[in-house]
Amino acid sequence: MSRIDINDVSVVFPARENTPAVTALDGVTLVLEAETFATVIGRSGCGKTTLLNLLAGFQAPATGTVMLDGAKITGPGVERGVVFQKNALMPWLNVFDNVALGLRFQGMPKAARQERVMTCLDWVGLAAFARHRVYELSGGMQQRVGIARALAADPKILLMDEPLGALDALTRENLQELILQLWQKAGKLILFITHGIEEALFLGTKLVVMTPRPGKIHTTYNLSFSRRFLAGESARSIKADPAFIQLREEVLEVIHPRGADDDDDSPR
Ligand SMILES: Nc1ncnc2c1ncn2[C@@H]1O[C@H](COP(=O)(O)OP(=O)(O)OP(=O)(O)O)[C@@H](O)[C@H]1O
Ligand SMILES: [Mg+2]
Repeated sequence: MSRIDINDVSVVFPARENTPAVTALDGVTLVLEAETFATVIGRSGCGKTTLLNLLAGFQAPATGTVMLDGAKITGPGVERGVVFQKNALMPWLNVFDNVALGLRFQGMPKAARQERVMTCLDWVGLAAFARHRVYELSGGMQQRVGIARALAADPKILLMDEPLGALDALTRENLQELILQLWQKAGKLILFITHGIEEALFLGTKLVVMTPRPGKIHTTYNLSFSRRFLAGESARSIKADPAFIQLREEVLEVIHPRGADDDDDSPR
């Protein structure tokens, strides 16, 4: 059972030759209880990846604290798995070896590694592709390898930065459902960044809406659409629910107010 406590955090990137200092996050406070599926949405540049990097231990806060289960996060750790937008797989290794890599570094014995990797590949539906090279797989399959790799070390929390952003609509929907099923099965705390409002509403039990300059949390919502899906309701019926549509419009209005300049690729 894991819990994340982010308390009054700011992140400032110092000025460089031609660019002024950037306050990427300012006064961010967020508590994520065990088994939360948190989705994070906001305009490009509002600090979503910076927030994830704090939790991954890739970035330290300028002020405030970031804690996992009461302990300060001071660097990367195996209890936190990361899935990137581009899967960052090793193209010269096959699927099995990509998923096994982290376990090898941890010194897991071969037989245990074999079993663990195959279990994770089975979860994402790729057991039959273990010996394929990464470049022989479709984009959606490669993302599934990235998810299997993040799950391999059995992390307490899963950090996902727009993992489905580069996929076509159908593959994306299939993977949304797969991720929900994995979340239900593994009971992990997930933080999932997305540019898709429907995706954020459909997957999350807690939606974090951010606004930029400086990056702040505007609103958080508690949601139950994903639990309804896991209880058997169809994705179509959930997304057609007036409550879903109303929330979608409400969040859209925060992120992309009507009449605002259209100067980026913000969610819609
Ligand atoms: N290493 C860095 N050095 C300097 N500035 C940075 C660095 N990383 C991020 N920034 C700045 O901090 C702000 C927040 O960036 P971040 O990558 O967290 O945004 P984001 O919400 O993930 O955006 P996107 O949706 O485009 O991925 C941006 O203004 C960005 O330019
Ligand atoms: Mg980002």
